[in-house]
Amino acid sequence: TVRPRGVLYRWAEVLPLTDQTPRISLGEGETPLVRAAALAAECGLDELWFKLEACNPTGSFKDRGMVVAVAKALEAGARAILCASTGNTSASAAAYAAHTGIDCLVLVPGGKVAAGKMAQAAAYGARIIEIDGNFDDALRAARVLTERHPIALVNSVNPHRIEGQKTAAYEICDVLGDAPEVLAIPVGNAGNITAYWRGFTECAERGLASRHPRMCGFQAAGAAPLVSGQPVANPQTIATAIRIGNPASWQTAIAARDESGGLIEAVTDDDILEAYRLLARREGLFVEPASAASVAGLLKLGRAGRLRGGRAVAILTGHGLKDPDTALSACQPDIVRAPATVEGIEAALGW
Ligand code: F0G
Repeated sequence: TVRPRGVLYRWAEVLPLTDQTPRISLGEGETPLVRAAALAAECGLDELWFKLEACNPTGSFKDRGMVVAVAKALEAGARAILCASTGNTSASAAAYAAHTGIDCLVLVPGGKVAAGKMAQAAAYGARIIEIDGNFDDALRAARVLTERHPIALVNSVNPHRIEGQKTAAYEICDVLGDAPEVLAIPVGNAGNITAYWRGFTECAERGLASRHPRMCGFQAAGAAPLVSGQPVANPQTIATAIRIGNPASWQTAIAARDESGGLIEAVTDDDILEAYRLLARREGLFVEPASAASVAGLLKLGRAGRLRGGRAVAILTGHGLKDPDTALSACQPDIVRAPATVEGIEAALGW
């Protein structure tokens, strides 16, 4: 018999599914865990692994949680979903809505969503509302709108999102045979660090892991409320996915940090872009800037002598193609112009 791929099939026994929950799938989950080729020693680690969440169907980790949130919304009779988003949640929501034939509305900060993500929402046919404000403003409005109108809220304040996203921690324990010593993850609205911590805690309880990882979360320096302890009114960073000043899952992120003996620290945009280039050029992994924050953080800790060996997993949350503008502006493409002849190309190359 054929077992369809997807989080609702692979991880049914750890998810809040009933016989009435529709088993939808776009083939999400079961993403590769790839060993670093070059960057482990520089981070002061014996082993560094990357969880390639860009391999999900819409190119980010959001699909793991969205498939559960949309299935549960359908089970409850919803015909429309809504989210606030810096771009990836909206791309994912739009895809699962299209797949299941329901409506999708997305509230995004005007002018601050990477081009690839806008293209996705447009292609999947979501209704896009660009607001004059940032993500935090959009989420505040989304909560009220979904109270006033019969529409399901599919941000990570929806507990089914967290349930779906925790499955990545199960996959890591499954592949490595245990939890790693360190888990490095970018933090924006703080749903994902919350989800991973739940997943690792459950794995330890179920005997699938002998230890908990130290949860090491990294925020962009211009959008680091969990580091400063105060909401940031006007967050700024090149990593637009995590340009968030007042994370919804604040308390559970702090709990993940403290219960695991971990940390939540800031990395600058320069740190993020350095890691972004290193991932692409030394590992062959093209991620979006927010995803590079996890590796920027490990490099920062490693160079300061704060990581002493052991095994770390860095979560690479979204694909580089999401944000082509940053790639072209931050990576000085190596382009030569040449006439359309072999001799002309040789001359242009100096051969
Ligand atoms: N990495 C990427 C690529 C993201 O898109 C996000 C969040 C994060 C990391 C941070 O995850 O919010 O759970 O702490 N993106 C959300 C969105 C906010 O709307 O797509 P988090």
